[in-house]
Amino acid sequence: MPTGWFTLRTTCSLPAHREYTLQRDSAGIRSARGGRLVPAATAGAIPPGRGREYDQGVASPTVDAPAAGESPPGPGASAEAFAGKVFAALLGALETQAIYLGDKLGYYRALDDHGALTAPALASITGTHPRYAREWLEHQAVNGYVLVDEPRAAPDARQYTLTEGAAAVLARDSDLTYMAPFASLAAATASHLDALVHAYRTGGGVSWKQLGDDAREGQGAANKPLYLGPLVNEYIPSLGAIHERLSAGAAVADIGCGTGWSSIAMATRYPASTIDGYDIDEASIEQARRNARASGNPTNLGFHLGDAAEAGQDGHYDLVCAFECIHDMPDPVSVLATMRRMAKPGGTVMIMDEKVAEAFTAPGDDTERLMYGFSILCCLPDGMSHQPSVGTGTVMRPSTLEAYGRSAGFDGLEVLPLDNDFFRFYRLILPEG
Ligand SMILES: C[S@@+](CC[C@H](N)C(=O)[O-])C[C@H]1O[C@@H](n2cnc3c(N)ncnc32)[C@H](O)[C@@H]1O
Repeated sequence: MPTGWFTLRTTCSLPAHREYTLQRDSAGIRSARGGRLVPAATAGAIPPGRGREYDQGVASPTVDAPAAGESPPGPGASAEAFAGKVFAALLGALETQAIYLGDKLGYYRALDDHGALTAPALASITGTHPRYAREWLEHQAVNGYVLVDEPRAAPDARQYTLTEGAAAVLARDSDLTYMAPFASLAAATASHLDALVHAYRTGGGVSWKQLGDDAREGQGAANKPLYLGPLVNEYIPSLGAIHERLSAGAAVADIGCGTGWSSIAMATRYPASTIDGYDIDEASIEQARRNARASGNPTNLGFHLGDAAEAGQDGHYDLVCAFECIHDMPDPVSVLATMRRMAKPGGTVMIMDEKVAEAFTAPGDDTERLMYGFSILCCLPDGMSHQPSVGTGTVMRPSTLEAYGRSAGFDGLEVLPLDNDFFRFYRLILPEG
């Protein structure tokens, strides 16, 4: 599951509300102090240089995060504390579905583009029903996602504003803090709960294809800012030799490329190189081609439909990479063995996968909680949907990948020194000769 969308350094899991007042300037609302305002995940989370909202020095609302190291109520907690934990989860689930509506219906983008809007104006701009637009805006204001100028005004006269921080997270698809696609992923799994129940009973699965467009597009959109930004502007350049090879003109294979953003990013950043994206999901490849066309149609880029284990092209590539997909595969060893063969002598095989803990521990931190959440609902059922399957799931620990790599003929792995809070980058070590 995608997790490179932002750099979250707080352990906060329960949004809290603070009072703010609006400060307006000639450019509109630039900061907010008053009203009820909580784009929760952005608070204090973005280090300098990583997020537009932070960079512009716009005041972020803050949240009442648990103290560092504080665990959420665990199984030994009182019924009251435990009820609070479950209640917070319920609120979060409802808010996530409201985000899905706001994203799909274009509400967040309209609020970002137009500034303060009334419910009838939002409905008119987005072609939606005004009664629904009003209820959704009221929900968003009550939950701290938008500001309302005058709560006591008549319902259709109230003006609602999406602040800079909330807009980055909910409306701006190239911002590293952009999180709206996760509502699509949550919707994809939630709308297949019957199939998941069946899979849990039978040992079957729910495939990526079955999860459909919400999963596919949510995944692509969630990782897009990471690939178009830090991957090609920071991470690969920091690797020295690989960067020089790609700059001079190299052949690159992108295994499990999904909707293509990693391939598009590399093709655009390294025009002398040739990038081949491979994916087994036809709809993903079609979407990747559409995304490429919308991104200037780089001529050094091609997308190929098929099982990566059968990609062939032995000894052809300087760089063979797989971004956030090995843990989804029922037979990762076969794919890794193909990746080993695809690499030229002296080439590089690079894997990006979830930065989970090195060993199981409970209770886990927020990253571990998130990855297990995706694992039980999406990645493990996807991996189990084709049998036989090793059944990896999202929580693929470094030792698991190393074991897969050795079975695939590699001489081990090294963790690359690339700083991302949710992803770990590995180089699988090609055998000598
Ligand atoms: C979670 S998505 C990641 C997509 C993309 N790399 C990204 O980061 O957005 C996993 C992708 O792996 C693809 N995949 C799974 N098994 C595959 C295989 N054997 N060969 C090629 N692609 C595969 C899926 O179709 C899916 O697009």
